Amino acid sequence: MSESDDLQELGLLTGTRKASQNSPSPWIIRAIKLALCSVAVSVFLVTIVHLKRAPSRQQVLDRLFPASQRRTWAQYAPYAPVAEARGPPEGCTVSQVNILQRHGARFPTAGAAARILAALSKIQSATSFNDPNLEFLRNYEYALGTDDMVPYGAEESFDSGVEAYWRYQHLVSDQILPFIRSDKSQRDVDSAWNWTAGFSTASRHKLKPVVSFIVDAAARNNTLDGSQCPGAGRGEEQTDQWLATHYPQVTARLNANAPGAELTDENTYNLISLCPFETVAYLKKSPWCTLFESIPNAFDGFEYTGDLDKFYKTGYGQYLGPVQGVGYMNELVARLTESPVRDQTQTNHSVDDFPYTFPLNRTLYLDFSHDNQMIAIFSAMGLFRQPQPLDPTEPDPDRTWRVSAMVPFAGRMVVERLNCSQSGREARSQKMVRILVQDQVQPLEFCGASENGLCTLDAFVDSQAYARNKGEGDWEKCFE
Ligand SMILES: *[C@@H]1O[C@H](CO)[C@@H](O)[C@H](O)[C@H]1NC(C)=O
Ligand SMILES: *[C@@H]1O[C@H](CO)[C@@H](O)[C@H](O)[C@H]1NC(C)=O
Ligand SMILES: *[C@@H]1O[C@H](CO)[C@@H](O)[C@H](O)[C@H]1NC(C)=O
Ligand SMILES: *[C@@H]1O[C@H](CO)[C@@H](O)[C@H](O)[C@H]1NC(C)=O
Ligand SMILES: *[C@@H]1O[C@H](CO)[C@@H](O)[C@H](O)[C@H]1NC(C)=O
Repeated sequence: MSESDDLQELGLLTGTRKASQNSPSPWIIRAIKLALCSVAVSVFLVTIVHLKRAPSRQQVLDRLFPASQRRTWAQYAPYAPVAEARGPPEGCTVSQVNILQRHGARFPTAGAAARILAALSKIQSATSFNDPNLEFLRNYEYALGTDDMVPYGAEESFDSGVEAYWRYQHLVSDQILPFIRSDKSQRDVDSAWNWTAGFSTASRHKLKPVVSFIVDAAARNNTLDGSQCPGAGRGEEQTDQWLATHYPQVTARLNANAPGAELTDENTYNLISLCPFETVAYLKKSPWCTLFESIPNAFDGFEYTGDLDKFYKTGYGQYLGPVQGVGYMNELVARLTESPVRDQTQTNHSVDDFPYTFPLNRTLYLDFSHDNQMIAIFSAMGLFRQPQPLDPTEPDPDRTWRVSAMVPFAGRMVVERLNCSQSGREARSQKMVRILVQDQVQPLEFCGASENGLCTLDAFVDSQAYARNKGEGDWEKCFE
């Protein structure tokens, strides 16, 4: 803009167009301009502040509890990335993606709710409350639902759809939409649809993916939910051992301050769980959080209870845990290699043998599942293997088995198939596999991965002998 244009503008703005006839000295013009500019900027900023949307649920929660603190909530921790996302290494492009995702934040399951209510009725029957942090119980009402997702969980699922679009939009088009499967549970179905809404919104509604397949309510063979191995244990022994080791002091303190409650260590655990459950449901800090923050070690013990529970329920600590993830692993291998599913465990052949219910020609696959099932799948594959089983009385502070980082609400494993050009031979390329869990690249030592977490597809498939040999006899043991 020339000086005279500037003047014209000033004239228009101030209504003193004629001023240019008798030009004021340039510094005055600059001063006026500066003043007008600052007025404009202030008006702009004030408007922004006023128009600014209410903070997202994510922001509200982050203000209440930073992600580092939420780690102690174990499997009830909301989604948080564990590492900064890294794109594929140089020379590689992503050619297929498989996302296995847990539903978003939810209410307690019916079973957990019953245990919570049992503990609540005990503490509410106390003859007095001798701790100011217990005062809230005088007019406390438990009002959580059961099993279903909470609005915060819907937002987590929506956001993950947005993120998937931004990362992998090059893989999809209205001809090749994501193929989305969900377990039949309502919270998984809701998560899946919220994911599609996020994905579609991010594409400015150019792409409209739908939930392609929901497991039939009557289906016994289901790779997205466990409980199909009647012979497997539940891992309760180890968590009970830990509760008995760690919680007596916490429980004694509660009982002393709430005479007559006569809580057990298990009751204590269930009352602590109200902190994450109420916080994600109401997006306000639950009074249970304040109470247990005032009692040393209450939350650390809570985290390890979750870690032990998963390790011994469907993880490496459960003899028949990993086999429950075999069916899914064989489906994954089928997709990665674009060849029919070969499995004799819990896949449903009436579904997997047909291209409309189990296509092999897509590029982005989504599966909505549950924490216990995802742990079985990780363990069938070889992720998060521990040097020795988790000690039920003494946590190893350096363990990599932390369920808050493995299966938080809306937690996800992303299996990428990449096409990498081989150095020196531009024309040739190699299929590779890379796996991210909460954005953290997994080491994949079991298929000889390089430092950047890449295995060749062949090496990855070879490494899955346990799944490909139908659990090496373990599946039959489920029914013995
Ligand atoms: C994938 O296969 C199905 C069934 O054979 C076919 O109808 C569809 O057009 C194919 N899609 C693509 C993107 O090739
Ligand atoms: C998202 O999930 C909520 C349940 O939390 C559900 O009521 C809603 O219908 C879902 N949204 C979509 C687009 O399906
Ligand atoms: C297999 O899937 C079909 C279609 O969803 C369902 O009707 C059937 O019950 C399933 N079979 C088993 C054994 O799970
Ligand atoms: C369901 O699983 C059982 C046990 O592995 C298997 O024998 C049966 O064929 C499966 N049913 C279907 C429909 O795939
Ligand atoms: C893989 O990359 C090479 C070049 O590096 C390219 O020629 C080839 O078409 C790509 N293949 C796929 C399946 O994307």
